[in-house]
Amino acid sequence: MSSNRQNWSIPIELTVNGRGVTLDIPPQLTLLDLLRDRLSLKGAKRSCDLQVCGACTILVDGMAVSACTYLAYEARGAEVLTIEGMADGNDLHPMQQAFIDNGAFQCGFCTPGMILAAKSLLDETPRPSEEKVKEYMEGNICRCTGYRKIVEAILDAAGKTGGAAG
Ligand code: FES
Ligand code: FES
Repeated sequence: MSSNRQNWSIPIELTVNGRGVTLDIPPQLTLLDLLRDRLSLKGAKRSCDLQVCGACTILVDGMAVSACTYLAYEARGAEVLTIEGMADGNDLHPMQQAFIDNGAFQCGFCTPGMILAAKSLLDETPRPSEEKVKEYMEGNICRCTGYRKIVEAILDAAGKTGGAAG
């Protein structure tokens, strides 16, 4: 009986990076597993698997979420954006370009999650203060860069280069 329950699957439809996706999933499947294992979108990273590090951050209907603890079923009908959907053809998203211009990564493992979280911040608050950036990005951990360049990149993307933020 219980093994039958483990084999249940549910049909869901969602949009991932602008493309409609229809598939059957077990109810316990996380959105991170759906993206990485079922759709081969490896940009969202798995690190803590506990909603602590932010490496798996993606946007669901524009809201930054930790895909490692977000059930795929809960994303039915939603618009999901991952790092693979940020660029417009060969043109990088301004946030991606700002991370490059400001040298805001080293190994790059945290970078997809950082960029999605930063996009969510600017979508909510187009011209955030430096303090606001630091506060918003607290849930995204980087082991390499020391954060200063990440904050600078986000302020750059917000058109705040030159220390205008307070
Ligand atoms: S892997 Fe999801 S928050 Fe760390
Ligand atoms: S660039 Fe290596 S963890 Fe952030």
